[in-house]
Amino acid sequence: MHIGAHALANNLFVAPMAGVTDRPFRQLCRRLGAGHAVSEMVTSRPELRESLKTSRRANHDGETAPITVQIAGTDAAMMAEAARYNIDRGAMIIDINMGCPAKKVCNKWAGSALMRDEPLALQIVDAVVAVCAPRGVPVTLKMRTGWCDTERNALVLARAAQDAGIAMVVVHGRTREQGYKGLAEYDTVAAVKAALRIPVVANGDIDSPQKALQVLRHTGCDALMIGRAAQGRPWIFREIAHFLAHGTAAPAPATHEVRQWLIEHLHDHYTLYGEGVGVRTARKHIGWAVRALPGGEAFRAAMNTLQDSDAQVRAVATFFEALAEVHPCLPQPAANDALVQLSA
Ligand SMILES: Cc1cc2nc3c(=O)[nH]c(=O)nc-3n(C[C@H](O)[C@H](O)[C@H](O)COP(=O)(O)O)c2cc1C
Repeated sequence: MHIGAHALANNLFVAPMAGVTDRPFRQLCRRLGAGHAVSEMVTSRPELRESLKTSRRANHDGETAPITVQIAGTDAAMMAEAARYNIDRGAMIIDINMGCPAKKVCNKWAGSALMRDEPLALQIVDAVVAVCAPRGVPVTLKMRTGWCDTERNALVLARAAQDAGIAMVVVHGRTREQGYKGLAEYDTVAAVKAALRIPVVANGDIDSPQKALQVLRHTGCDALMIGRAAQGRPWIFREIAHFLAHGTAAPAPATHEVRQWLIEHLHDHYTLYGEGVGVRTARKHIGWAVRALPGGEAFRAAMNTLQDSDAQVRAVATFFEALAEVHPCLPQPAANDALVQLSA
């Protein structure tokens, strides 16, 4: 699997998720089997570049190549400038966000709202490709199936984007109107794959190795992108890889391994965010990691009251040590348990 000249480790990608797939989490997913990772979206508005949030999102220290930065915005010139700015700071692939349904993005005609304005969407694609191509930086595009049920234009837009020089398209099998509700459909994704020469990636509701195989078969896509199911379960990538290669379920990870991964993730997280913000924002990662485990909910409630990183790490270590005594291998959640519903 290649994006432009970049060879990827495999065709299982971790989806960009604002507030989740920061550099520490992306690295963890890669370590546990993801072949590619895209940053959380960064705004194209130059006045926000120096904000702490945007500069943390632009942190790629020690990140595995190819470093991929997702940009979001509504103005072609600003998007081109954002691409150039991020390339100068290490981006090796630029991804354009045409999939995010969040209101603060859509009201400004960014994210999936761009799918409703094809001329503007293509203007943005042209402008970003014009900046990236001479620098040898491929541009990828992440989109939904369309704006709403009656306006499913992913195929038209994907074809035009390919003609404009886009190197890969990711399609989340929902319309913008759906937000994260209902089920992802893969017929539109399959139609995009059938029509394009460039790699096409299927995304949406892939939450188990079995579902991954089903989506690959149904769509014929070149790769899969997994988002919410990786929250608290970043080893899902290697589980899927194992299942695709051998047709059998991978053994559950040892509980002490999961403990170790989480603790290492926490230390990396505190290094990026600092003590105060680090402790607060680590809570969601810990919560996801324990939610399907025996005693997980009670532990989460108690852990959320802890105010410093040492106490947080100690609590996590103690929880998993106690769990390991009863369950040497991690108890397995049922498929779908992992999906987090996010209102649009
Ligand atoms: C918390 C959260 C944040 C997200 N942020 C982004 C984002 O910054 N850029 C983007 O293109 N998609 C974003 N998405 C959408 C995901 O990349 C993905 O398309 C969607 O969650 C469907 O895949 P899944 O069912 O595997 O989670 C976000 C999703 C979630 C749940």
